[in-house]
Amino acid sequence: MNKNHLKILKNLAKSRNYGQGPAHALQVSKLSLKIYDELVRLKILKNNPEDRVLLEAAAVLHDIGHPQEPHHEVGFDFLADEIPRLTANDPISNAALSTLLVSVLWHNERRYLERGSIKIPDRNHAEKIASIIRVADGLDLISQPAIENIVLSIEDRRLRFDVISKHSVDLQIEQAKSKSDLMKSAFVLRDVIFGHSEKPEAV
Ligand SMILES: [Fe+2]
Repeated sequence: MNKNHLKILKNLAKSRNYGQGPAHALQVSKLSLKIYDELVRLKILKNNPEDRVLLEAAAVLHDIGHPQEPHHEVGFDFLADEIPRLTANDPISNAALSTLLVSVLWHNERRYLERGSIKIPDRNHAEKIASIIRVADGLDLISQPAIENIVLSIEDRRLRFDVISKHSVDLQIEQAKSKSDLMKSAFVLRDVIFGHSEKPEAV
């Protein structure tokens, strides 16, 4: 997936008001990219600019199925039709498209099943990308102030998220924790844990 694809997909998200408005989708995108960069810094992921673009596109599109429910399935079906049509002149690879689609599908799922005729060439890779969006989505609640930053660390295969915010983030942490299951299995971690810090210096 390239920058031109990202532009097309961002325009698509915008044209549908990101499913439920720009604030949440753009914050999930910001947090997803931050998590990606932290996983690269910790050498848990290899830096891959195409994956980073793919992650950003999937994040801005993750709630596109709203307000219909189940919105993750509606979004998957909509994008499975729309993306090949919009990128017919410069097709996205099957691997990238399938990863994007399951990232949308799995952001709100408890069972990570395949859907339709989409085949996933590298399931573990798709799980890793989807798991980032799943946790980033958990870290943003429309009813609460956006968190300012996150810093990741790892020790003994326990991945820790330090959430930086001046506000209480108990609800966001609870939701992110409940959505960290796929990250734990995809990256073969012992656990994913969360803490809260008011100031970046304290981390
Ligand atoms: Fe969301």
